Amino acid sequence: MFNSVCVVGLGYIGLPTAAVFAKTGTQVTGVDVNDAAVKTINSGKAHIVEVDLDGLLQGVVSNGNLKAQTTPAEADAFIIAVPTPFKDNHAADLSFVEAAIKSIAPYVKNGNLIVLESTVPPGATDKMVAWLEEARPDLKAAGGAGTAYYAAHCPERVLPGRVLIELVQNDRIIGGITEECAEHAQDLYETFLKGECYLTNARTAEMAKLSENAFRDVNIAFANELSLISDKLDIDVWDLIRLANRHPRVNILQPGPGVGGHCIAVDPWFIVDAVPDTAKLIRTAREVNDSKPRTVVDKVKRAAARFKNPTVACLGLSFKADIDDLRSSPALDITTQLSSELDCDILAVEPNIDILPEELSKTGLQLTTLMDAVERADILVLLVDHLEFKRLPSGKRAEKIIVDTRGIWT
Ligand SMILES: NC(=O)c1ccc[n+]([C@@H]2O[C@H](COP(=O)([O-])OP(=O)(O)OC[C@H]3O[C@@H](n4cnc5c(N)ncnc54)[C@H](O)[C@@H]3O)[C@@H](O)[C@H]2O)c1
Repeated sequence: MFNSVCVVGLGYIGLPTAAVFAKTGTQVTGVDVNDAAVKTINSGKAHIVEVDLDGLLQGVVSNGNLKAQTTPAEADAFIIAVPTPFKDNHAADLSFVEAAIKSIAPYVKNGNLIVLESTVPPGATDKMVAWLEEARPDLKAAGGAGTAYYAAHCPERVLPGRVLIELVQNDRIIGGITEECAEHAQDLYETFLKGECYLTNARTAEMAKLSENAFRDVNIAFANELSLISDKLDIDVWDLIRLANRHPRVNILQPGPGVGGHCIAVDPWFIVDAVPDTAKLIRTAREVNDSKPRTVVDKVKRAAARFKNPTVACLGLSFKADIDDLRSSPALDITTQLSSELDCDILAVEPNIDILPEELSKTGLQLTTLMDAVERADILVLLVDHLEFKRLPSGKRAEKIIVDTRGIWT
């Protein structure tokens, strides 16, 4: 029975998860090292943009089911949803997981459940357990007789923009340190889950999440490589893919400006780092996708060279459509490179943010509206397929040079 849950890390994953648990009547303590985020959450608002999250938070904060703070508290279950970026050598940086487990160590009791939701390389859940037991040698992991604590990995696979729906509807993979641990974690998730739970061991669950994102990355790399090949062979890649997809067993994805975000562009590296000599295809896919922003920059520079003093508008900065998240965004990367390499006016349009990130504002780049950009620019660089851009009437861009990396205007 889980009457209380402590969620550590209140970002894009942890905050919606905390709110969904609180909605079921569970007493939730949300923990984050970011004091400003904690204050915002306790005022009933989200510090991140996610559809319907503000409304849900307002309800669960005002009825007292969710309280945010900067230090952990005792609970029946702990969920860890802290960042897991990669280091310069592409190995996973588990320092946030280590800090999180050490911060909850004084509060854990035998009988408690600890679930690691952060995306991690194979073996990381075992490491987390080792860090916990190093800090608390009195604790015993479940598996044998008697009271013990339970530990599992349950990777998150929600889509930004649909998080509150997918948190409840998606199936979950639960990898226990032991079978008993996986079953215990299943009981926790079934308090709100409509999807199925599939139980396995922690290593398989860790690798399953990485494989899902590596699968996407490899398929996107294929589309991106086709776009590079098509450019060289003077073929319209959008037409090419549309035609090839008429085959009943072919489904090529759409190319883009590169792959961004904190999942698909990061997680495959954890596999490459674990088995560098074997994960050849996965590494190459990462390299193809990472090379894409540079080719877009070069294409825009070639277009700009045809003008005396052009104005360039970069449409979209986020890493995917209709969200405000600029982390590891190829669109942001391209815009930054263009503003440092082109000696001309560069406008940025990002309907989902109000101010430019510091690295862009100090380059002199101006954030403006779509209509203003379209009016002023000679070259429109379409980087993100935001709804607002899709709706731009074709007459408005008739006289412009277009570099459309998403194929929405072709
Ligand atoms: N965002 C997604 O769409 C998504 C999807 C699937 C999986 N994931 C994975 O989920 C994990 C979390 O991702 P996110 O997008 O929510 O990250 P995030 O950066 O939005 O949020 C993480 C939060 O953890 C906090 N934090 C860091 N160290 C802490 C500590 N020691 N104690 C308490 N709080 C701490 C940060 O201040 C931040 O608010 C990552 O491993 C990510 O790969 C993310």
